Amino acid sequence: MDTLNATPVCSAVEPEHGPDQPVPFFSQARSFARLWPLISEHVNDVIDHGKYSHGHKVAEFERALAAYTGAEHVIGVNSGTDALVILLRACGLQPADEVIVPAFSFIASASSVVAAGGRPVFADIEPDTYALDPARIPSAVTPRTRFVMPVHLFCQLADMAGVADMSRRYDLTVVEDSAEAIGMRWHGRHAGRLGRGGVLSFFPTKTLGAIGDAGAVLTDDLQVAEIANALRHHGRPGRTLNNFPGIATSTEYLGFNSKMDDIQAAVLLAKLTRLDADIARRNLLAREYSVRLRDCPGISRLPALSSRAGEQEPVFYVYLIEVDSRDELAAWLARRGIGTETYYPLPLHLQPCFAELGYTRGDFPVAEAASARTLALPLYPDLTLPELDAVCAAITEFYAGGHR
Ligand SMILES: Cc1ncc(COP(=O)(O)O)c(C=O)c1O
Repeated sequence: MDTLNATPVCSAVEPEHGPDQPVPFFSQARSFARLWPLISEHVNDVIDHGKYSHGHKVAEFERALAAYTGAEHVIGVNSGTDALVILLRACGLQPADEVIVPAFSFIASASSVVAAGGRPVFADIEPDTYALDPARIPSAVTPRTRFVMPVHLFCQLADMAGVADMSRRYDLTVVEDSAEAIGMRWHGRHAGRLGRGGVLSFFPTKTLGAIGDAGAVLTDDLQVAEIANALRHHGRPGRTLNNFPGIATSTEYLGFNSKMDDIQAAVLLAKLTRLDADIARRNLLAREYSVRLRDCPGISRLPALSSRAGEQEPVFYVYLIEVDSRDELAAWLARRGIGTETYYPLPLHLQPCFAELGYTRGDFPVAEAASARTLALPLYPDLTLPELDAVCAAITEFYAGGHR
């Protein structure tokens, strides 16, 4: 385990933070203020151009994202959730096909499987990455299993070497829920390009966040790309696919209205040019948290890169700690104006919407422990060091007060 406990790295003068000033969990307004000159140029271009959905700015963004990720094909859609549904359908999911999904994730990892017509089958996670444990795949496989969906959460990728081994052994198609994983790479290959296809979410809180909902499908497989391109647009293969010309003459698939709108593409295109700098700042702030919190009683786990960490660089989308008295700590911080989030308070197999799948508490103990003990702290490029100090001081004070 590498617990990111290097020496502090921030030294620049940062604005003061008064004792009663709140620290929001997330603030997109700050990054918009910082990037507005760049964003407004692209937004004005869209407005002048006059096509506001599925237009030239979307195509421009798709090309830029293809260059950033190395993906052969990028299909911009209206959310990460729709990207998952479209990807599963484009990969040929048939009714009642089973998809192995980690028990600890955002609801869309599993609800997308149902929306695409399949059935999620859950498996437990690894305690360090919080991602699907490849060793748990064999016990989830049945004669109907056709897909496995690793989900890359918080700051690092799932064990993709292990997932690849298992997918070969059981003949499973790998679709990556890389909604949180922009910038993450495995041996230099971007997340979403480690299986048949993957997705990105540009929900405003994400590392690359839009000004509303947006998402993308990534794939190197032309057939998957062509079907996904059609599915996002009512099943019509009409619009360009990364400059791929086509004329809509018929509706080949039962698709969706899941087009990306051009204002989102304009914002994303502008923010993409700053993405690597934003990621560097996120990673730096994560190291600062780890330095300050490493000896704090009550915290049982700081973000730890897996022992396979040499294979990848972290990208801190979320800084997640495991703590005693999690809900009391969150309430205590909230009373001091400090925002936190619980990702994810109930594991997927215990969600009421999946009751009919027949899982019970105790089925996936690592996922259940993670849901009970983890808390996400404020982390975004425009968080200041004094704000980060205030968060750490408040946590330390909480446990110094005898809370357990
Ligand atoms: C792991 C994961 N999967 C899927 C999604 C769905 O993305 P979106 O919110 O863009 O629909 C998210 C985003 O919240 C996510 O974090």
